[in-house]
Amino acid sequence: EVSFKGIKNFISLKDFTPEQILWLIRNSLEIKQDIKNGKSLPQYLKGKTLGMFFTKRSTRTRVSSESGWAGYGGHPMFLGKDDIQVGAGEPWKDTSIVVSSMVDCILARLGGHEEVETLAKYSSVPVINALTAKYHPLQILADIVTIYETYLPNWRELPTNGLPLPKLPNLKVAWIGDANNILHSLLVTLPRIGISISAATPKKYTSPQDVIDFAVKNSRKNNKDYGEVSFTHDPVAAVKDCDIIITDTWISMGQESEKKQRLIDFAGFQVTEELAKKGGAKKDWKFMHCLPRKPQEVNDEVFYNPKRSIVFQEAENRKYTVMSVFEMLMVEAKKTN
Ligand code: CP
Ligand code: NVA
Repeated sequence: EVSFKGIKNFISLKDFTPEQILWLIRNSLEIKQDIKNGKSLPQYLKGKTLGMFFTKRSTRTRVSSESGWAGYGGHPMFLGKDDIQVGAGEPWKDTSIVVSSMVDCILARLGGHEEVETLAKYSSVPVINALTAKYHPLQILADIVTIYETYLPNWRELPTNGLPLPKLPNLKVAWIGDANNILHSLLVTLPRIGISISAATPKKYTSPQDVIDFAVKNSRKNNKDYGEVSFTHDPVAAVKDCDIIITDTWISMGQESEKKQRLIDFAGFQVTEELAKKGGAKKDWKFMHCLPRKPQEVNDEVFYNPKRSIVFQEAENRKYTVMSVFEMLMVEAKKTN
């Protein structure tokens, strides 16, 4: 039994223990199987409303969370930035107090991370981070589910040693790209479930010190069950012996004005077969990307190669993982809190 005592929100995976993360993953895998088998879903959220604040665009996050909440019988209410008074200057503090008095859960895709922290501070209901400039925890859950499906499809038959899932074989992820919300989220999560990560970012592009410190502290250096963490500015060096290459756009939402400079700074960072070969990635390396993808960070040969790229499975898994988070916050955590 994994306890979620003390958990109210889903803001960053660094707030969750490895056991709690594996519970979320296992539950996502179970939800996926139930849906694929045509089982009718429990109606945990009947009569409950999800307030969805989005000040940035979204395809996957919006569709997965709206349909996932509705799948459990609840009512999702999408509130874009031009729909609510925040667009005209009403502060997040006041908005959170008011909206949380009328809905049962809030899911928010905002700009700076402090905005979602403010929402959480003043909300009387659980708050889910649907992406900030610092973290995108929902995405990383879908990445891990996809990694289990790819590298441990027979997880049901293996001993778990008291954990919700058996441990993954020793895997190494290479990140080739920006120091952004996706990388920061991978860094605070993967090593604690045993996956090593080597991150290559251009010079001048580095993760915040608190993210680096958390990742290094929670790495193999201090715990033999954890993965290794290393940083470089050389993409060729980063892919050495890796199983998976992950990247993301070089220009995140909100950085549009930096595009010209970034395209210069990221020269040599495009993920290609040649880069993987030159650096010595494992022969059957896989490619992942949170999407949406731009051609500069990965070429078509890799992106559309079904033997390499597991990006569309990764995107589909966003649905089952957000449903797992809903169940965790609205059912499991409420048992003890
Ligand atoms: N990966 C992801 O969050 O996609 P959207 O921006 O489409 O939601
Ligand atoms: N790093 C990207 C992720 C999009 C899902 C961004 O923040 O725009």
